[in-house]
Amino acid sequence: MIRKFSYSPMIDTGAVVKKLPVSDTPLPYFTLTDGVFSVRLSDDACVYGLGESIRGINKRGWIYESWCSDDPLHTEEKRSLYGAHNFLIVDGDDRFGVFFDYPARLVFDIGYTDPDVLTVAPEKLALDVYVIDGDTLKDIVRQFRALIGKSYIPPLFAFGYGQSRWGYVNASDIAAVADTHESAGIPLDMIYLDIDYLDNFKDFTVNRDRYPDFEGFVRDMRARGIHLIPIIDAAVKREEGYSVYDEGHKNGYFCKDENGEDFVVGVWPGMSCLPDFLNPEASKWFGDKYKVLTDMGIDGFWNDMNEPALFYSEKALNAAFEKIGSFEGKTLDALSFFAARDVFTRLSNAREDYDSFYHNAPEGRFRHSDVHNLYGYKMTESASNSLKELCPDSPTLLFSRASYIGAHRFGGIWTGDNHSWWGHILQSLQQMPGLNMCGFLYTGSDIGGFNGNCTRDLLIRWLSFAVFTPLMRNHSAIMTRGQEATAFDDTEVFRHIVTLRYRLIPYLYNAFLNAAENNEMYFRPLSFDYESDPAAREIDDQLMVGDRLMIAPVYKQNASGRYVYVPESMNLIRMHDGSITAEPINKGRHYISVPLGDVVFFTKSPLPLAEPAGNTAELDMNHLTYVGEKLLTPNS
Ligand code: NOJ
Repeated sequence: MIRKFSYSPMIDTGAVVKKLPVSDTPLPYFTLTDGVFSVRLSDDACVYGLGESIRGINKRGWIYESWCSDDPLHTEEKRSLYGAHNFLIVDGDDRFGVFFDYPARLVFDIGYTDPDVLTVAPEKLALDVYVIDGDTLKDIVRQFRALIGKSYIPPLFAFGYGQSRWGYVNASDIAAVADTHESAGIPLDMIYLDIDYLDNFKDFTVNRDRYPDFEGFVRDMRARGIHLIPIIDAAVKREEGYSVYDEGHKNGYFCKDENGEDFVVGVWPGMSCLPDFLNPEASKWFGDKYKVLTDMGIDGFWNDMNEPALFYSEKALNAAFEKIGSFEGKTLDALSFFAARDVFTRLSNAREDYDSFYHNAPEGRFRHSDVHNLYGYKMTESASNSLKELCPDSPTLLFSRASYIGAHRFGGIWTGDNHSWWGHILQSLQQMPGLNMCGFLYTGSDIGGFNGNCTRDLLIRWLSFAVFTPLMRNHSAIMTRGQEATAFDDTEVFRHIVTLRYRLIPYLYNAFLNAAENNEMYFRPLSFDYESDPAAREIDDQLMVGDRLMIAPVYKQNASGRYVYVPESMNLIRMHDGSITAEPINKGRHYISVPLGDVVFFTKSPLPLAEPAGNTAELDMNHLTYVGEKLLTPNS
């Protein structure tokens, strides 16, 4: 049962597709005092949800802010990442789900200030709250997902392996990626084009010095089974004569400052303007621009910098130069030195900037910070709407960095600029169920880590986990050490792991479609499947995948195995040197040896495997063999 409570929302976010009447009962579970919702947590209560956020699967014990943030340092003390996913399940003496449909800043204090209290504080009391009662945790999620609408389903090729790197400068760099993977026998479906392919970082352009025959190149790659997936950034370079800027400026499609002038910000292209995705005309206009690339044979995109990320605003930069001048010639003590240093470091993603530009939505004019969390979502919706018209015959791959609930209907998301850190394998695993609860099924992290230098063992362990994430993309930042599956001396082990992914696609894709169709989670914490098992409740480094598989990845440096909790008798499946074996394992806690390069997982019933394939087009989904048949132990 879902009940809706309404506190004068300013705007219909579009997150909810099922329109419900406002409940005439008092708000259950919570008290509302001075604009803050609070609820007591029983001693054993777990709190699940919040989609893309840091820390464990049980969110209790930290404070989180719903504020889409371009922050490339995902450390434990952070409160926000790129997505704003305001859905929680409290599982204690009371059990319920709750969604705060609110597009501005919202603070969830989940036992941080008072360990026994959860508070939710919106900046303004202007929101809808949905409270969901259900028989089971899965049932609560199913009801919530029916409320927010079905998840985006990408094309099959999006389940293949993708290689990406910021810094593949030109067509020969990209061709070299295809060649090295091909000669190493590593399957590959996608190569991503980061901002390097653009002419001066201008959206919907191609740098013709770097790609003299882009169309031909896209075609040649496709003939080799590889889809090129370009990036699209939110901000449009301010440059007279650049048609996208000229049209946007002339038609009033950019966000405005308080005087009605285009608000100017600095991002990759330098001074730029922000398309107003809340204005339906502007949204349609920007979305239709993807045609420039679909006409060249492109069938997949990733939308970036759409929190929106602001390195600086033109106004704040000018003020900073003036301010820094005031320090000149003075003897600086420590404090004034820090103040001088911060004049520039504080410019990025500044709240004052988000406060000083406006959207022109059908409901009226909105200050950006009142609707901040909708920006990336509305960019994805804009692209999705146009791509459906531009490519009516086949779905397009589309995923985004920033998001709000609702965006899950239009595309996937990736989890942004992580690091080549062991802890970020675990972080990625822990983000998956929360994202699935909120409808984001097509998701994954930058394999190997975006920032920092990756090592061979880290990449092997990360890939061994990412074999199971719908989005399986190796991506890294410019100037970092190469971390392709071909970058280290021996490619054999990488070939085995990526090949295993392709062999598993019939199961994984089917599990994905099932989750999308039936509003289920593809990734679940063990506690969702084994509700009455107290041991399962504590596990936050293993996941259920689909209806018959459990993963327990190794995410520690130099570990040669790990403890695994097996919640019922299963088969342990081991991929070693490319060959796959099964052995029964009883319910209980076991130390499992997982030498580097082996991939180990657990099944409840036989698992279909395809024959190895070089890409998804070669995958034969009709001839399957089954692993783990008839092996389960007698006490299962
Ligand atoms: C930030 C994105 O998160 C990252 O993936 C990308 O490589 C850089 N922008 C450059 O486009």
